Amino acid sequence: EPEIITDKNQMREWSRSMRAQGKTIGLVPTMGYLHQGHISLIKEAHKHTHLIVVSIYINPGQFSPSEDLSTYPSDFQGDIDKLLAIPGGVDVVFHPYNLYDYGNINGVEPIEGTSGSCVEERQLGHETWIRVEKLERGMCGKSRPIFFRGVATIVTKLFNIVDPDVAVFGKKDYQQWRIIRRMVRDLDFAITVIGSEIVRDADGLAMSSRNVHLSPEEREKALSISRSLSRVKLNAQNGQISCKELRNSVTQEILEAGGKIDYAEVN
Ligand code: PAJ
Repeated sequence: EPEIITDKNQMREWSRSMRAQGKTIGLVPTMGYLHQGHISLIKEAHKHTHLIVVSIYINPGQFSPSEDLSTYPSDFQGDIDKLLAIPGGVDVVFHPYNLYDYGNINGVEPIEGTSGSCVEERQLGHETWIRVEKLERGMCGKSRPIFFRGVATIVTKLFNIVDPDVAVFGKKDYQQWRIIRRMVRDLDFAITVIGSEIVRDADGLAMSSRNVHLSPEEREKALSISRSLSRVKLNAQNGQISCKELRNSVTQEILEAGGKIDYAEVN
């Protein structure tokens, strides 16, 4: 049975006492609604540290007002059941109710129940953000301008609270992994960041908590992504086609399947 900790000071205390006993700690940050992709990160973490902390926290700081914060899927009891089935299990599930002490994150009022502070301070909202200036700008950052500062900031907060030796991220979110790796290097966190391979469903679609929202038709469209990317991989290994041609073939296949494209890059 994992210990469930909801209070950040209690989380800090747990890490401090484990560290005093000479134990190393691995952290796997998630927003819950766990699937085999998340589970593979936990298995990877087991290779590196004595103890494993999984955080489950839907971070309002990385959603813009137009995004799906209110409909992001969650099933805490289901998540715990999945964690119980992992060989070696996990030691702690860190499941805080709210990690922001001041109101108004990205124009979204946070959930009530935070520590009180003077009204003026609360009206300022959350003030301090981590920005990884160049890496956060391209690709997903183009259509989601505040997303990566929200991710980098919550991951920093989790690092400060949990104080892990190792943290594992999925390469499914490749830009996110690279941003965290860069942040850790630039800011001297004493944490090893590990990138873990993409886990896919049998039909090729990368697993994602949000896939639960896809209709069968949308899922069929989405398969054009993995299909076109694996063709790119094959063609790139042959080495005869330019990046531009490879990118165009991806764009074409996804558009033909009826998909909409934010960006496609081949470098
Ligand atoms: P979430 O989408 O829950 O993903 C948590 C971790 O699981 C991330 O490192 C992500 O890359 C990894 N992951 C998700 N699907 C995967 C798959 N199919 N294969 C391999 N790894 C996969 O990413 C977030 O949450 C948040 O942005 C977070 C880092 C927790 C900050 O709030």
